[in-house]
Amino acid sequence: MAVAQGVTAFHAPGRVNLIGEHTDYNGGFVLPAALSLGCTISVSPAQAGKLVLKSKQMPGTVEVDIASILDAQPRKHWSDYVIGVAREIASLGFVIEPATLEIDATVPTGSGLSSSAALEVATAFALLNGRPLEKLEIAKLCQRAERNFVGMPCGIMDQYASVFGAAQHAILLDCRELTHQLVPIPDGVELVAVNTMVKHELGSSAYRQRVAECAEALSHFPGKPTLRDVTLGELERTAASIPEIPLARARHIVLECWRVLQFHEAAQAGDLERMGRLFVESHRSLQHDYEVSCEELDYLVDTALTIPGCYGARMTGGGFGGCTVNLIKSSELENFEKAIAARYKERFNIDATIIRCKPSAGAGPVE
Ligand code: GLA
Repeated sequence: MAVAQGVTAFHAPGRVNLIGEHTDYNGGFVLPAALSLGCTISVSPAQAGKLVLKSKQMPGTVEVDIASILDAQPRKHWSDYVIGVAREIASLGFVIEPATLEIDATVPTGSGLSSSAALEVATAFALLNGRPLEKLEIAKLCQRAERNFVGMPCGIMDQYASVFGAAQHAILLDCRELTHQLVPIPDGVELVAVNTMVKHELGSSAYRQRVAECAEALSHFPGKPTLRDVTLGELERTAASIPEIPLARARHIVLECWRVLQFHEAAQAGDLERMGRLFVESHRSLQHDYEVSCEELDYLVDTALTIPGCYGARMTGGGFGGCTVNLIKSSELENFEKAIAARYKERFNIDATIIRCKPSAGAGPVE
């Protein structure tokens, strides 16, 4: 990308989560890949004391007084993500320099591909503007911005993947230890996201509810810091005393953590069939035990599984709309894309967008 003189630019990617859904806030495992889609922010000078925010995709300019940044209140506006990050950076003792941030985002909002994390992480890089801060601290401060200012009690996966993504790899992230290893994607297969183009309202309230239901399930395991620390045997032995809903949520978490590790093994062995089966098991668990899927996502998964060359399909991200992720034999890619779009259109009269996911590097300056 060409950058005008006196302007610096930073890019942060969105992510597609391959497996390990809703496990991050339970200290579990996730396996996302950063995308080539993301958020780019150009930084140029501004009037003293001001932070000026502009977005190529959203109308209007937002002006913020840097002096009162710590007293800012959320407005339920896209700028909350930026201001939330600015507050966290200021709380760490960094001076927020006057700047104009021009934001250009290519991750579709509401797609479950982490447009928010891309905006947060790009903002952190832009506001730090070269001042050093550990990458893990950047991911954590962006997560705090979303939890404390935007008000969404999210886990660390999205911000971590945006910071630590690697070209041609997914990452296996341990959300308790906050460490990761790179996972190469086997040859001969493509990762394809299919966007339902719907985002049901329920999404954020249900997310909060799931966090609470997991906490309720955990309260039946004294001494266990997170649900990730509960084994399947322990869950089975305690099941009778846990109410039905928290039990189903816990079952999803415990088995989903196991599936992530199985998927990692299958990916290392290049076993596409097994990777695909784990995709489908994960989806069914999100559909029936965790109850975060929806009609459109289920239809896309069920349909994908009938199309030649599809090893597996599942919803990706928080759920209630957004995208499915599909593991597709490279030679069948075009057929698959045409078939799934046609079937979705026939059923819902909606044009699903198809996104070929190219695992990409994490955030940094734009060369
Ligand atoms: C959203 C949250 C993540 C994670 C996923 C579900 O993307 O931001 O932290 O919980 O949902 O896996």
